[in-house]
Amino acid sequence: MARVRTGVLISGRGSNLQALLDAAADPSFPAEIVCVISNRPGAGGLARAEAAGVPALTVDHKAFDTREAFEAALDAALEHQGVELVCLAGFMRLLTPGFVSRWTGRMINIHPSLLPAFKGVDTHQRALDAGVKLTGASVHFVSAEMDAGPIIGQGAVPVLPGDDAAALAARILEVEHALYPECLRLVASGEARLTDGRVVLTRGAAPRSQLLNPPARS
Ligand code: GRF
Repeated sequence: MARVRTGVLISGRGSNLQALLDAAADPSFPAEIVCVISNRPGAGGLARAEAAGVPALTVDHKAFDTREAFEAALDAALEHQGVELVCLAGFMRLLTPGFVSRWTGRMINIHPSLLPAFKGVDTHQRALDAGVKLTGASVHFVSAEMDAGPIIGQGAVPVLPGDDAAALAARILEVEHALYPECLRLVASGEARLTDGRVVLTRGAAPRSQLLNPPARS
């Protein structure tokens, strides 16, 4: 079966990109990473793409006068590579509704919180400040409103005594690296479908395990 041609947009170190590249290295994975584009020159993720033999491009937003011009260049680069599905992986530019609508149902993002809680930036510190006992990561389809599109999958972790934002971010990042490839697999294989603004999974049973924090005493 033809694999879905997937482009990954990044701005930084690209550890989620790495998780996607590693998953897609298996020829039976339903998505193939065909290009990586960074809006920041020298982003660490570009070297990861090159090491995996994937074309790595920079479309520097600072080189464009308007957001629309930047996005037109992004679009052209994605088009040139025949990209069918876009993964945002630590891509730190807001996208205009015009760009988002061109990719509706074909663009997904990972966010380090259990959405709809803690949209936007500084999620880990805000989770600590709010005193939540569980947090995590979400993968969702991108919609015009930031971090608000239909959720494909989520992974949860406990917030532990003594956590600071860095410790919490590291715990969540491990979940991200498992969650993002799995969600890409679901979307690329057609097992996760957008129906009436929600994601319907056509795959087997969900896990029955619970994550309680604090844990129940037996
Ligand atoms: C991740 O925490 C991701 O959820 C957020 O930005 C971070 C990117 O990290 N959107 P990396 O570049 O994938 O290592």
